Amino acid sequence: MIKSKSFLFVAAFAVVFAAATVAGLYLDRKTLELPEPGEEWFDTDGRRINAHGGCILEHDGTYYWFGEHKSDTTHLAMVGVTVYSSKDLNRWKYEGVALSVDDADSDSDIRKGCIMERPKVIYNRNTGKFVMWFHLELKGEGYLSARSGVAVSDNVTGPYRFLRSGRINPGILPADFTEKDKALLDTLDPENFIVESVHDDNTPQWREAVASGLYLKRDLAGGQMARDMTLMVDEDGTVWHIYSSEENLTLHIAELSDDYTSHTGRYWRMMPGGLNEAPAVFRHNGKYWMITSGCTGWAPNAARLFSADSITGPWRQHPNPCRGKGADVTFGGQGTFVLPVGRQFVFMADIWRPECHSDGRYMWLPISFDDGTPYLEHHIIH
Ligand code: GAL
Repeated sequence: MIKSKSFLFVAAFAVVFAAATVAGLYLDRKTLELPEPGEEWFDTDGRRINAHGGCILEHDGTYYWFGEHKSDTTHLAMVGVTVYSSKDLNRWKYEGVALSVDDADSDSDIRKGCIMERPKVIYNRNTGKFVMWFHLELKGEGYLSARSGVAVSDNVTGPYRFLRSGRINPGILPADFTEKDKALLDTLDPENFIVESVHDDNTPQWREAVASGLYLKRDLAGGQMARDMTLMVDEDGTVWHIYSSEENLTLHIAELSDDYTSHTGRYWRMMPGGLNEAPAVFRHNGKYWMITSGCTGWAPNAARLFSADSITGPWRQHPNPCRGKGADVTFGGQGTFVLPVGRQFVFMADIWRPECHSDGRYMWLPISFDDGTPYLEHHIIH
């Protein structure tokens, strides 16, 4: 009797436990089961995932992760942009090189040894083409060329065909520049403005001149610089190219043409002189949110958070969105993309490892909201 009672108890416990486990798994799936931040992460062939500074495009029920292929000893592009596919954001199948560097053509802008960073891919329903934009530095020029490249493909995984690269919107002033702004620009003399380094604090006069468009004026004829970048598909289908411009001092938010492969000439400046890099944008409850980093190269720094009612601004800065231990250095990472999954959002970041670039790690954190304001926590570092 006692035996069967305890048997019943054990059996009942097992059923409840199993049900709870299944429910737990179910719930976990529902609430996003993300890979452990900073852990080594392997594709379905058992090879390290090599897709840095990336983005994810969801297409026909599958996620596609595009990113920079990094070699062990150099950050120069020796391979190109890789692509992986997944149904669950955890198990990724390597789909190959989506956009390859040019190994043969010595005149190509994307020849082997150039710098190709932060690729972002979107789909154009009207043309049926997938469009990739990325930050490009010509081979042998360090980070001086500050260009954007664009490539297209009929298939999501590629191969992408490189179209062109260049600076952005030559000869065009920001869309909201007033007569007063233009008059102020006329007073600036970029060629004779002596600064030690554009990233040092410098003088109040210099900071004022930067805010008024010192480097925008310097680059007006040839086009604006563009380094760290992202793309955002707006609710009405307009696509925005958001990039660090003006010596990384000021972000630009530029409208893309209907086929997404060029700029319309309309652009707005954001946070002039704010030194923002690594922009990642999303929309939540009718507001635009942007998470950026400061400019310290591969070394992590504190993330910044901004919001606006319209993508073109005005943008308002909020306190650091990271909370807890490691918040002052974004838990060791630097953002690259925000992925909406159902009603949730995932902040995707890179943990760079310049001592072995290919071993750079990934940190994907769910975004929480406190009274409508996004914040990030790191469950392992806590
Ligand atoms: C980072 C930037 C990276 C890469 C790196 C080079 O600030 O976000 O994409 O350009 O600098 O030092």
